[in-house]
Amino acid sequence: MKKFYLTTPIYYVNDEPHIGHTYTTTIADVIHRYYKSLGYETFFLTGTDEHGTKINEAAKKNSLNPKQYCDMIAEKFKLTWQQLGIKYSNFIRTTDEYHKDTVQLVLQKIYDKKDIYKSNYEGLYCINCEKFMSEEELVDGLCIYHNTKPLFYKEENYFFRLSKYKDIIFEKIKNDEIQIIPDTRKNEILGKLQLPLEDISISRKNLKWAISLPFDNEQTVYVWIDALINYLSGIDFFDIKFKPSIYKKFWPCDLHLIGKDILWFHSVIWPAILLSLEIDLPKKILAHGFFTVEGKKMSKTLCNVIRPKQLIELFGVDATRMLILSTFPLGTDGNFSLSEMKEKYNQDLADNYGNLVLRTFSMIQKYFYNDIKIKKISYKIKEKILECVKNYKFQFENFELHKLSETILSLTSFANKYIQQKTPWILAKEKKVEELNQVLSDLLFCIKSATLLFYPIMPNVSLEVLKSFGETNNFEKEFVSLIENYEVNITKEKISSLDILFKKLQ
Ligand code: ME8
Ligand code: MG
Repeated sequence: MKKFYLTTPIYYVNDEPHIGHTYTTTIADVIHRYYKSLGYETFFLTGTDEHGTKINEAAKKNSLNPKQYCDMIAEKFKLTWQQLGIKYSNFIRTTDEYHKDTVQLVLQKIYDKKDIYKSNYEGLYCINCEKFMSEEELVDGLCIYHNTKPLFYKEENYFFRLSKYKDIIFEKIKNDEIQIIPDTRKNEILGKLQLPLEDISISRKNLKWAISLPFDNEQTVYVWIDALINYLSGIDFFDIKFKPSIYKKFWPCDLHLIGKDILWFHSVIWPAILLSLEIDLPKKILAHGFFTVEGKKMSKTLCNVIRPKQLIELFGVDATRMLILSTFPLGTDGNFSLSEMKEKYNQDLADNYGNLVLRTFSMIQKYFYNDIKIKKISYKIKEKILECVKNYKFQFENFELHKLSETILSLTSFANKYIQQKTPWILAKEKKVEELNQVLSDLLFCIKSATLLFYPIMPNVSLEVLKSFGETNNFEKEFVSLIENYEVNITKEKISSLDILFKKLQ
């Protein structure tokens, strides 16, 4: 079975979705649509992280009980993903019963294996990160992500023998058995793994808004351990929900897509839990960069938090997805600027792709009343499509996703230039019907290829344009044929007209 299982982080419900969450989830959806269209059996998991101190406090601030509060925000996440055309296979909430049962089962297994022991914890804790902090991680005594002072804790906790798995994890990351992308992040983790590694506290004594430990109901599970286990409960790995589960065949995970802030948890703590459980390790972990907004860190206090709704209102769903994906390389930090996005929208979508489609379709209507012969594709056009598909595949396989649109747009630019060169309006005036037909037919091959390639990024626009070719039922077959055999076919000769795809913005 060609299968592909990918995940996003499960997001904290202390805030409504902003473009940070949107960035990761949109990229996951693009990757998912690509593999699904290629015929893989896929599973795309996302969801919400709902336990812990931070959520408990957010609920209090909103004068709701934690569960009511979580229900409200989880709905907002679901709604946002729906608005963005994100089609996940499962939305897991850590307050779901089958997740809680899974967490307890996992902790009992690790406990039985003697990888959990009781000891005293004394140290600092950042509530915003929900993370125990060492002095070295702080700058001027403050958390670097939140600029807040961690709290001092001293309590008797249960500890997980993380140190036991240190060497084996180091080896597995080093030889890419767990592949960390990009390389800079891999080296960062390998570097950290060469320093002394302590066991970690995995329980809390006085926190009620959490899952109880199965072997001691005086204590609850540390929220990060609870959260990581979602990647197993989300596919019902232990047959708790479906008996037997139909989804557990998707393990091991092919890709954990995350931001760089949570790489340590995913590349060290998570594999250690899996090793203790004797379960196969995830294949790839991709940690993308963080972005700033107009050059500044995005934060509520700076009032520069961008919500996906603002982008959708301005650009529409598909363009929003394209702009989010294409703004900067996946592995590095970047900057979001509305004015740059507008410029890109006008140039790439309104003037380039959108205009190509509109011009070509209106010429076909004007000169052939939409009834055009599909000719054998010209060699030059075929070559260009081949080059474009090759780059596109390479970029998908190597996660150079910000280049995908550029690659597709190189084909549509080429086609726009082809129009300037061939001057169909002159061919029409001179009644060179055969030649005119060839040019327009060639343009249709370009448009169809570009449109198929745009599908994972801009699914609605793509399907709308494909519909005007009159063939809707075998999308997957056509996608595979283009990606695997570099072949694009147009079988109908009747083309229907289209409205403007991307209105130019002022
Ligand atoms: O960490 N730039 O949840 P979280 C890019 N619940 N990505 C950003 C971003 C930014 N400015 N801000 C947020 C948690 N993100 C845990 C995860 S998983 C088992 C548990 C994205 O709500 C990015 O993907 O704080 C980052 O890793 C994630 O949101 C953190 O979301
Ligand atoms: Mg966070």
